[in-house]
Amino acid sequence: MKIVLFSTKPYDKIWFEPLSGQYGMEVKFLEPKLDEDTVFMAKGSELVCAFVNDILNDKVIAELKRLEIKGILMRCAGYNNVDLNAAFEYGIPVMRVPGYSPEAVAEFAMGLCLTVNRYIHKAYARTRDFNMNINGLMGRDLCNKTAGIIGTGRIGQAMIRICKGFGMRVMAYDVYPNKNLDVEYVDLDTLFSKSDLISLHCPLTQETHYIIDEHALSLMPKGVYIINTSRGPLIKTSALIQELKVPGRIGGVGLDVYEEEGDLFYEDHSNEIMEDEQLARLASFPNVIITSHQGYFTREAMQAIAIETMENAYAIEHGTELVNQVK
Ligand code: NAI
Repeated sequence: MKIVLFSTKPYDKIWFEPLSGQYGMEVKFLEPKLDEDTVFMAKGSELVCAFVNDILNDKVIAELKRLEIKGILMRCAGYNNVDLNAAFEYGIPVMRVPGYSPEAVAEFAMGLCLTVNRYIHKAYARTRDFNMNINGLMGRDLCNKTAGIIGTGRIGQAMIRICKGFGMRVMAYDVYPNKNLDVEYVDLDTLFSKSDLISLHCPLTQETHYIIDEHALSLMPKGVYIINTSRGPLIKTSALIQELKVPGRIGGVGLDVYEEEGDLFYEDHSNEIMEDEQLARLASFPNVIITSHQGYFTREAMQAIAIETMENAYAIEHGTELVNQVK
């Protein structure tokens, strides 16, 4: 079968190219993002491989059907950007790569927390300029503080292990509590009001959209750290900015994802005037660090994503069980 990959970068080729021969698949790499304007480029392929900011709405999926696409391969864990009803209606299976490296994302989440808490981003800039003054860089111990983990799936569990390793107390919230986990489940309001560090690890759904809004923020203790490595719209950015404007209110914010990241992330905008006022405002706070959706980006994760995606393609081609199908 022929697979067309949208939104590709040179680092995608490194992992996919060597596998194509091994799996007997032809792989075509395209740089454009998949959306209504670019979907025609899938013509001539049997499988479409997409990433986190591609747009697979009903119109795109209808066109994929017309182009006789046999399957959608998401080379990521999340699938909030796919209209699953449309895919089901048109009979196109949607495959994903769950749990390719939960540690990659959880380790990054803790990295963001350490960075904003201890101002490592500021310290780096200062010492590069031989400014060895540490005024204003004081953080807080994480040991004996409370971490609140929202979503206790693969990444949430890895984050719980890491927080415990730091000597933190951990509480969690999940719509489906995991009885096998050694963690105290609490309701959301309790988690918001009792956590020194709040880390989001749930998917983006109708229920989790703006899970951190004005109400949630109003419950959080002074000096709270908020980390989002899941999906941007879990946080209402406008509400977060209002709280960040109050001196001392928020300890730090680490964002690997952003509400409006779709047309911004993964591209170089350094020579442009930033038109997204909210992103510009967020970046202006000394205790906010923003990264460009790179939590997953380790060698181990990239390799696992490529292998699992090819396995998913193989399963569609050979009619074997679609174990990673999104249902
Ligand atoms: P998972 O499916 O293993 O776990 C998700 C957990 O969230 C489940 O336990 C589920 O019950 C829970 N959940 C669902 N609805 C909820 C709700 N309304 N409230 C609270 N919990 C809820 O997923 P995994 O692999 O842990 O990934 C979590 C998220 O991380 C993904 O959905 C994706 O958005 C994000 N992600 C980000 C990456 C990055 O590079 N920054 C890379 C990979 C995933």
